[in-house]
Amino acid sequence: IQRVGMLTSGGDAPGMNAAIRAIVLALDSSVEVIGYKHGYNGLINSESIRLTQSDVDNIIHLGGTIIKSARCKEMRTSAGIKQAVSTLIKDKVDALVVIGGDGSFNGLLAIQEHWAGQVIGLPGTIDNDLDGTDNTIGFSSAINTAIQAVDKIRDTADAFDRVFIIELMGRHSGHIAFHVGLASGAEAILSFENTDTEHPEQVIDSLAKQVKQYQNSCNNSFLICVAENLWPGGVTQLRDQLNRYDFIDASACILGHIQRGGAPSANDRILATKLGVAAVEALKGGMSGFMIGERYAKPILVPLLDAIKHTKMVPDHLIQAHKNIKAINPTKIDNL
Ligand code: F6P
Repeated sequence: IQRVGMLTSGGDAPGMNAAIRAIVLALDSSVEVIGYKHGYNGLINSESIRLTQSDVDNIIHLGGTIIKSARCKEMRTSAGIKQAVSTLIKDKVDALVVIGGDGSFNGLLAIQEHWAGQVIGLPGTIDNDLDGTDNTIGFSSAINTAIQAVDKIRDTADAFDRVFIIELMGRHSGHIAFHVGLASGAEAILSFENTDTEHPEQVIDSLAKQVKQYQNSCNNSFLICVAENLWPGGVTQLRDQLNRYDFIDASACILGHIQRGGAPSANDRILATKLGVAAVEALKGGMSGFMIGERYAKPILVPLLDAIKHTKMVPDHLIQAHKNIKAINPTKIDNL
């Protein structure tokens, strides 16, 4: 390999810079690295920079991505894909590494169909929703950031004995909501795996009963962590629905993009470094069409198609753990 192209695509994730650094530093210094800027737009518009070892010297601790990111609608068109491929050919790129989530891997698979170079994906998304990897780069940082925020909400919720509904990111997955809910001791977690949104009235009724039961036993704050895009009408609607009960004083908070920012956690720096180094090994071994994932703390090669075929769900044992924690609360339920 003489020239490697690299881009970060989709929602940025803390640890993307650490992955860029690892790839550049693990490659032989004779290999040129081209960073395409703003995700696939950089390929389509031929916007790139050379990435040398000194460019990545001091970036392991930085959030965001030094080569920028974007979502690229043109990569869903055949004209866009052809344009991206023609840039790779013009730039004499031998291999392309994409750090991103499922949408980014779709783009990579489309490129693979029209290009003879090697393609490798690294899982970079706070959502942790890619199949075939235990963790994605950015997830650990996002949940740490969110937990700090939820701890603060707990303080004010406690002072008022309030119900707080907190929306966590994840697009269509509940990993952030569930992990943050567990780690912050939330009284309820609503995620795709455990909530029947076809019957919202039943869910509200059951939540109201839990709140009442909780008030009867200790009268403290009651936190509900909710996965984004789960509740019809969103968390403000859920707040209004709960506030119809005269014994509930509920507020809603959408944590939003703060979950994507900040310095990467130690776990994300280490994961990004491990996977970046493994990506270089895979390239040297002539591999193509794989995501470098992590299973039982070791890097593994997962066919790109398998990584995006299904959204990885929250494991049952975590859902069960939360249920069991709730079971130790007093069980007396008053009539509403
Ligand atoms: O995929 C990462 C993510 O932060 C999701 O959790 C969220 O649904 C989405 O991106 C938000 O995207 P945008 O920043 O484009 O609004």
